[in-house]
Amino acid sequence: MVVGSGVAGLTAALRCEAAGLDTVVVTKARLDDGSTRWAQGGIAAALGEGDTPEQHLDDTLVAGAGLCDEGAVRILVTEGPDAVRRLIETGAHFDESSEGALELTREGGHHRRRIAHAGGDATGAEISRALVEAVRARALRTVENALVLDLLTDADGRTAGVTLHVMGEGQHDGVGAVHAPAVVLATGGMGQVFSATTNPNVSTGDGVALALRAGAEVSDLEFVQFHPTVLFLGPQAEGQQPLVSEAVRGEGAHLVDADGVRFMVGQHELAELAPRDIVAKGIMRRMRERDAAHMYLDARHFGADMWEHRFPTILAACRAHGIDPVREPVPVAPAAHYASGGVRTDAAGRTTVPGLYACGEVACTGVHGANRLASNSLLEGLVYAERIAADIAAARSADGLPARVPQPVPHPGTPEHPLLAPETRFAIQRIMTAGAGVLRSGHSLSRAAEQLQHLHAEARDALVENGKTAEPGVDTWEATNLLCVARVLVAAARLREETRGCHWREDEPGRDDTAWRRHIVVRLNPDRT
Ligand code: SIN
Repeated sequence: MVVGSGVAGLTAALRCEAAGLDTVVVTKARLDDGSTRWAQGGIAAALGEGDTPEQHLDDTLVAGAGLCDEGAVRILVTEGPDAVRRLIETGAHFDESSEGALELTREGGHHRRRIAHAGGDATGAEISRALVEAVRARALRTVENALVLDLLTDADGRTAGVTLHVMGEGQHDGVGAVHAPAVVLATGGMGQVFSATTNPNVSTGDGVALALRAGAEVSDLEFVQFHPTVLFLGPQAEGQQPLVSEAVRGEGAHLVDADGVRFMVGQHELAELAPRDIVAKGIMRRMRERDAAHMYLDARHFGADMWEHRFPTILAACRAHGIDPVREPVPVAPAAHYASGGVRTDAAGRTTVPGLYACGEVACTGVHGANRLASNSLLEGLVYAERIAADIAAARSADGLPARVPQPVPHPGTPEHPLLAPETRFAIQRIMTAGAGVLRSGHSLSRAAEQLQHLHAEARDALVENGKTAEPGVDTWEATNLLCVARVLVAAARLREETRGCHWREDEPGRDDTAWRRHIVVRLNPDRT
């Protein structure tokens, strides 16, 4: 069973089906909802002349600020080029030159042009289209509008399936279950834990919350990547915000302040194309110095033709908000973008719970370390989804995986979940933005921890004392999952008393390789509180 329908989920499902496994895909909304569809810049792989996996490895390790698992990165960069070729065989069309070669661009932290793109700046939409069409063409079983709740396990503690909240019309929502000996979590990220994010509404950390409740290990949650250039729509803007791809800088756009000064020059040898944590910090610093709410991305020199052909999605988004990038610099500021951490897996995508796998943004394979290199995420989704399918197929033929439908057992003593009212989502987002955002300190994180604990205690007390909890529903489960991942994220960020990658502690400005060149791994207590 595959949970989620982005690049990782659908690739895992297609490869499982191709290996002869009886496969079902369950997804919270429609098959093409989720983050993959919104990816702009592209997919990184050493596909260009003169480029090598070794150079891709070097750039990834530098961006990861000392915390990448080199073996995991090596797998990513060496298996990546063929995985992209297989994606093309599956039906994805990437932009090509007039000679028929893949057009490759650059993004932050890459020393080479190695980002393949589609439709100019609509790479994710094309990948999603191709994979959804392939799933439909092969008549794979899919269940849409079903939110995964909890993992089921058998008497030996092995994965036996999941429970689901299935959305029907109006009053007809229901709870169901799918029994399966292998479950692949590909539920995407948790950007909605912050007020302003590039992530769609559905990115509420459901997979990480499920894994935590199931007793799986989760790692590196403190490393939330803030994309440097998100269209600035005002200080109160909340929810999903339009991305202005790194590829715009890759093609030569400049970051400037209100006086038109290029402030990244001199801060890093790659200037505007430094790794994303460095650019986000550069922008935040300049915003502080100038007491400004945003900076600008200036690409007027592209001209109308280039904007229309190379960046049609971004051009349309800017114009929809009254900004014309052909004539004026675009206001930008950092916003939450990507969870570099997630459910801890090995090189085959196995989590610490037998039979439970994870790939894509929900997973922590070790390839991103403290800061993901731009455009490595679609690639990671592809490569590790393929490895998971191979592992499940191998387990099946070695008889390690039960061929019969597993029998879940009830877990005595498991408390009922205190479900949160849907509007708690906004309280969580504000607490997280104020206390655990792009700039954090011991003080801001402690305050966030207290406030989150208060929300948790309120819900728990209502359940314990009055037997009352919010009505089960997608919104209540999403708020509950957001609180679960927010508490763990803040706990990890408080522990890590240093600044590294995208974890920026104002009170601990230095990187401490003696004490902190290690990972924070979390597993919830068995009573799941
Ligand atoms: C972008 O297009 O800037 C986003 C790419 C990424 O997040 O990898």
